Amino acid sequence: MALREIRVQGDPILNKVCKPVAAVSDRILELIDDMLDTMYDANGVGLAAPQIGILKRIFVIDVSEKGDEPLVFINPKIIKTSGSQTGDEGCLSIPGKTATVTRPDHVVVRAFDEEMKEFELEGEGLLARAIMHENDHLDGHLYVEKAEGPVRDVKAQQE
Ligand code: NI
Repeated sequence: MALREIRVQGDPILNKVCKPVAAVSDRILELIDDMLDTMYDANGVGLAAPQIGILKRIFVIDVSEKGDEPLVFINPKIIKTSGSQTGDEGCLSIPGKTATVTRPDHVVVRAFDEEMKEFELEGEGLLARAIMHENDHLDGHLYVEKAEGPVRDVKAQQE
């Protein structure tokens, strides 16, 4: 298990466009393991490679209740989106903050797994939101760009 430092808003690496992965090397597998460790350690539901300073098109997601259903996406492409959902969103790179963002309620994504096998996955609700959020990271975008209304303090919101 290895944790990597999560880059936070203001770090220019978060605004860069990531490059596709050509092949899954041992180094990439280690990166993915570290991304999952880092995401779980931070209690996140998703993490994209640029958030730990790696400009590659990889993200990981786990929206399960127990946090035992990791999903790995390499070179993802959003194939289809439909519907819409409006709700609060957060990001490990913008700690302690939240804002309202409207996203598709249903997405179809095509990506490669850790064996470079292509797969297609349909996501609804939180999974759809997470896929869109993480995919935005690969193109250098943060959710606050899409915020409807102010970016709020998580604590203030809970009070
Ligand atoms: Ni994020």
